[in-house]
Amino acid sequence: MVRGARRMDVIESCRSMQEKSESLRMDGKITALVPTMGFFHEGHLELMRVGKKHSDKLIVSVFVNPIQFGPSEDYDTYPRDLEGDLAKARDVGADILFTPSVKEMYPEGFQTKVVVERVTKYLCGLSRPGHFEGVTTVVAKLFQITKPHLAVFGQKDYQQLTAISRMVKDLFMDVKIVGVGTVREPDGLAMSSRNSYLSPEERTSALCLKKSLDLAHGMFMKGVRDAGEIKGAVENLIQKHAHTEIDYVSLCNPVTLEEVDTVSRGSLLALAVKVGGTRLIDNCIIGRGAH
Ligand code: PAJ
Repeated sequence: MVRGARRMDVIESCRSMQEKSESLRMDGKITALVPTMGFFHEGHLELMRVGKKHSDKLIVSVFVNPIQFGPSEDYDTYPRDLEGDLAKARDVGADILFTPSVKEMYPEGFQTKVVVERVTKYLCGLSRPGHFEGVTTVVAKLFQITKPHLAVFGQKDYQQLTAISRMVKDLFMDVKIVGVGTVREPDGLAMSSRNSYLSPEERTSALCLKKSLDLAHGMFMKGVRDAGEIKGAVENLIQKHAHTEIDYVSLCNPVTLEEVDTVSRGSLLALAVKVGGTRLIDNCIIGRGAH
């Protein structure tokens, strides 16, 4: 079904989306896709602006993907606001909002998955088994349906971006992957749909993630190269904040995501911290300054 929403089309059916994408390609249009799970914040909108800048037609997908959530995770309670999202995407200038149903994306008999093997093993892969194959599977499906020339992803989800880039390369997918830097609240907290779960007290504690990135960067700039020393200092800092529980603090190779013992310019610092009941992630490239 296709509904007119001022300048933006809202498409719910996969077949209609495929037909629309094909006709855009036939007309010689460059198309960009921004895949999302909705509940838009400035991070999502920045991805859309970048997508728009690089294309003639911007497609934004909103789909809360059940297969990337573990059984004890927040699929049912994940924040949703389709009406609000429609207005925001339209204001940014999206041309098409694609919102397929779970039934259509995963019809009975569905049994094909895309698995990226190594880079998904570390970091979030350890505490969220099956998560990344859920992500790569849905993104592969979205690429098949929307046939974009380019697709835009946030560096905030660094491991996700790495897995998707690997998938595209390994499977010769004809899509250019564009990464966009993390958009933050004025006090440094990385924007996330899940920030809406935080109580005011937890919101204050959540600043420990950005403070950790700054601390690690500062130690590196002062000459510290031992990964254990930097991780120890970061863990200390996080533990001083109420309601926090560390999932991981990792200093790793930015391509393979394997842990390093010695930090160098360009190493990745990646963090996952539970604040109250909310799991937050953040990362930075060491030695790059602004993050
Ligand atoms: P979602 O969490 O909605 O994020 C959609 C996109 O926005 C992702 O590329 C993510 O990295 C990016 N993003 C989130 N917060 C950001 C921030 N603060 N700054 C910049 N970009 C940010 O990630 C997903 O959805 C899903 O896993 C998806 C790829 C859609 C597959 O289901």
